Amino acid sequence: MAVFDTMRRLMNFAFGRRKSLPAYQTEEERDGLRAACRFNAQLLDFLRDHVKEGVTTNELDALAHHYTVEHGHIPACLGYRGYPKSICTSVNECVCHGIPNDRELQSGDIVNVDCTTIVDGWYGDSSETFLIGETSDDAKRITQASFDALWLAIRAIEPYSSVLEIGLAIARFARDQNIGVVENFQGHGIGRMFHQEPGIPHFPVKKSRRDILEPGVCFTIEPMLNIGSGATTSPLDDGWTVLTADGTLSAQFEHQILMTELGPEVLTLTQNGPQEGHKF
Ligand code: MF3
Ligand code: CO
Ligand code: CO
Repeated sequence: MAVFDTMRRLMNFAFGRRKSLPAYQTEEERDGLRAACRFNAQLLDFLRDHVKEGVTTNELDALAHHYTVEHGHIPACLGYRGYPKSICTSVNECVCHGIPNDRELQSGDIVNVDCTTIVDGWYGDSSETFLIGETSDDAKRITQASFDALWLAIRAIEPYSSVLEIGLAIARFARDQNIGVVENFQGHGIGRMFHQEPGIPHFPVKKSRRDILEPGVCFTIEPMLNIGSGATTSPLDDGWTVLTADGTLSAQFEHQILMTELGPEVLTLTQNGPQEGHKF
């Protein structure tokens, strides 16, 4: 109801934490973000043709690195807090931050490819999960659910929504399907830095009601959903790889979003990847 929307906006405006959040108000800044995200999506489209049975994740990493550098840009992951590669490749029960290696992808795998690029000082960050060859019903189910959860969250927000609405939308959706939501990793503000305020939890955290998505705030939504529980392991000895605690499959999709005066602008749309409403 319009009157409640107006009330909520006024309350958020008055009591929210919006003033302390980084926000981009000039068209120059917004165009910088758009260009970085457009390139990052283009990189995912380039990799798409190669994410097939028989390719190693190291080969995907090398392809991503060369493509980025050839275009004059910087792979943001490489060297970030000591991360050793240019992309993250998280296979099957790997929740996130999988490090590319020499294992060949095989039929039945699902793999999340997460790319981040720095273009003229601006960060673009997005990811997709790919189904390799013939996959199980569970593999399809968790991939579909994480894709749908991302779009559900995008459609749940508008200018002056609070971050809490994202977590609520995703958690309700996952609960109805008896799917686990990872709580140990979240989306994030992004711009001239890789990770900044606000944090974007994919489950309800009460205090996130104070983080208001006013026009100009740029952030990612990147839900990690598991067939089993949402619990994860600590990073493995490599310092990065995170697995589901119960060994079940995990999938993730990520888009980078600029909240504008007109609503959420999805900056990382691809040309050839799954679009809103896609059925895997
Ligand atoms: N791209 C991831 C994210 O969505 C972060 C990867 S950090 C790395 O936030 F160091 F592992 F690359
Ligand atoms: Co991210
Ligand atoms: Co990412």
